[in-house]
Amino acid sequence: MVFRSFSRRDVTLLLLGAFSMHLVSVLFSTPTETSFVISNHLHQHAEIIPPPIEPILVENFVTPSENVVQLSASNDVAPHLAPQLPMTSIVHSAPGYTIFRNLYMSNGTLFILSPNRSFPDIRMIISTSIFADASPENIAAREPNPDIMDFIIPEAAQKRWGGDVQNGVRHHIFTVEGNTVLFNDPSQFLRHYYHFVAELFFGVQAFWHGAFSASVPSTIPDPEKSSNPGGKNWNAYPIDPQTLHKSAYQLHHPLPPQIHRSIFMHSNADGWRDDPGFNSYFLRAAFPAMSVEHQEDWNDRIAATNGGSNAVRDRAWLFPVVMVVDRSAAFRESMTGSHTQRTAAQAWEYMRNAGRLRGELVGGWWESVRNAVLFFSGAGVGDVLGGTEDNDAAESTSLQLPISKKVMVTYVSRQAGSRRKLSPESHESLVAALRELANKRDFDFNVMEAETLTKEEQLQVIAKTTILLGVHGNGLTHLVFMPPTRFSAVIEIFYPGGFAHDYHWTARALGMPHFAVWNDTYLTHPDEPKVAYPEGFQGDSIPVYGPLVVKIVEDRLDGKI
Ligand SMILES: *[C@@H]1O[C@H](CO)[C@@H](O)[C@H](O)[C@H]1NC(C)=O
Ligand SMILES: *[C@@H]1O[C@H](CO)[C@@H](O)[C@H](O)[C@H]1NC(C)=O
Ligand SMILES: *[C@@H]1O[C@H](CO)[C@@H](O)[C@H](O)[C@H]1NC(C)=O
Repeated sequence: MVFRSFSRRDVTLLLLGAFSMHLVSVLFSTPTETSFVISNHLHQHAEIIPPPIEPILVENFVTPSENVVQLSASNDVAPHLAPQLPMTSIVHSAPGYTIFRNLYMSNGTLFILSPNRSFPDIRMIISTSIFADASPENIAAREPNPDIMDFIIPEAAQKRWGGDVQNGVRHHIFTVEGNTVLFNDPSQFLRHYYHFVAELFFGVQAFWHGAFSASVPSTIPDPEKSSNPGGKNWNAYPIDPQTLHKSAYQLHHPLPPQIHRSIFMHSNADGWRDDPGFNSYFLRAAFPAMSVEHQEDWNDRIAATNGGSNAVRDRAWLFPVVMVVDRSAAFRESMTGSHTQRTAAQAWEYMRNAGRLRGELVGGWWESVRNAVLFFSGAGVGDVLGGTEDNDAAESTSLQLPISKKVMVTYVSRQAGSRRKLSPESHESLVAALRELANKRDFDFNVMEAETLTKEEQLQVIAKTTILLGVHGNGLTHLVFMPPTRFSAVIEIFYPGGFAHDYHWTARALGMPHFAVWNDTYLTHPDEPKVAYPEGFQGDSIPVYGPLVVKIVEDRLDGKI
């Protein structure tokens, strides 16, 4: 079995959603406009459809020195020789995702060095990183305490770590140069392809890319033009003239600065590696230069801050630019807690609302990752996409996404596994019905049994896939690597009455429609059902009526839905 089952997780999420914390009003300090955005070129004259996905061009790389987020001008002096210890500030903060400048760590506590407390509520930043369940005791035990993160005023910090700079004695702070992401979660939700790639890093990329891309003025949601007219604000998709799909295949210039380092503070090296090995494959493919530290390394850093009994004072690590990521904190706000159960939704929504989600209709902000992984896998994506000259189809919509040279419908089969699979009759009739349609309409139809393919082979199929279909499960995580085309879609089969947001939210966050199939009915946004795990959800006789799936595929290819 390639994909791990995760029924306990499903139940946990459901319970978490149900128990979840009410909307907490968070006092965000105004995000500081970043003085270190490297350039402010907006793509006002973005050309229509550049060539399809290409390997990242050499000229797209920024040099290492540009690639380090610059400290502001006043910090030109090395921090350990600065007249004052550099103060902490916030770049951007959403529940569970916070980018700081000048965050400190000493004795295992993250310190915000500031004379004031105008910072987001710490419980919306971080938690105690224990495994989560939905019991009230556990929820309470995950609340952060001052050992996890705390404020320290400049005088106290000076006393604890300060030197006598005027007399040539440096501060006892040691800079962890470059850009760091601190993952505060335990392994519970790391060791899983969907949660790691399509949730954790999906959110990281949305937040980091948004924070350090030039902002886009005039992202005013226009309900008429929205693909979600009249929809609720939290899941609206306004069309942003600056970030239309037109630039979907361009990497936005300048590229955001590189993330140099990920630190899994509470997970060992095994704790984020899923059994099929997709997470480590993904991390190296998407971020080839990023270094990774684990709990052991973090503990080394903690131990190193203890000056010992003879020392004059403690040491502190200084993180000049750091993003703190925390799953429990994301769940404390209703966007994740009750609406989507997706932590990435916090990052995505925040940046969209701030007008910083570039290429939002097709996940332009995700493009560098998608592109890097497909390129790494050897998929010839450039050969897959056709032109955009099909003006008839384009008339009904302002979208001019390219079409595939040849449409491919990929059905991810779970039939070789033992659970959450179709009844044998349903599987057979579905495959037969789609084969017939594929002949009639001249598209490629592919039944993907992931367990029989290498990672490369799976991704090479995905690179050509226009419509991804399957029973709810980890195999659908691959949707994040589907190249956006005009007919892209995700069709997810549930046991009738069942629903979960995982692939629904993720597909829509990349601009793809999602259809939830209940045997002979389908539901789609804005009429998606509520989360439910009825009896039979995990079973081995999920029904599906082939002709219904055929109709969805046909209607989608005809541009009707
Ligand atoms: C260091 O951390 C430990 C555990 O959190 C705590 O008991 C101890 O008091 C701390 N030491 C200092 C000097 O703060
Ligand atoms: C609080 O202190 C930070 C430095 O840590 C500073 O950037 C910010 O402007 C201060 N905010 C207020 C409201 O004084
Ligand atoms: C699925 O739908 C078909 C077509 O409407 C119907 O004949 C069949 O009984 C349904 N199966 C289940 C289990 O509801």
